[in-house]
Amino acid sequence: MLVCDCNDVHFDAIKEAVMKHGDNIDAIMDETDAGTTCECCLEEECDKVELPLPLAIKRAMEELA
Ligand code: FES
Repeated sequence: MLVCDCNDVHFDAIKEAVMKHGDNIDAIMDETDAGTTCECCLEEECDKVELPLPLAIKRAMEELA
C-alpha cells in the first residue's frame, strides 16, 4: 500500500520504522524519507497516495499493539 508517492514508500517500510520508533513521526520520516518532498502525504486527505503517513502510522501502531 503506497504511503508516499514522491519517495515510493510503502506501508511495510512504515511498519518497520514504527517497530523501532513508535509513533515518532520525525524519526519515521528520517528513516524512510516518507513525507520529505511535496509533503502531501503528511495530510490525512492527501489523494496522491493510498494511505497517507499519519494514517499509516496509526494503522501500524494498531497492528503492533
Ligand atoms: S507524496 Fe510523500 S512527500 Fe510527496
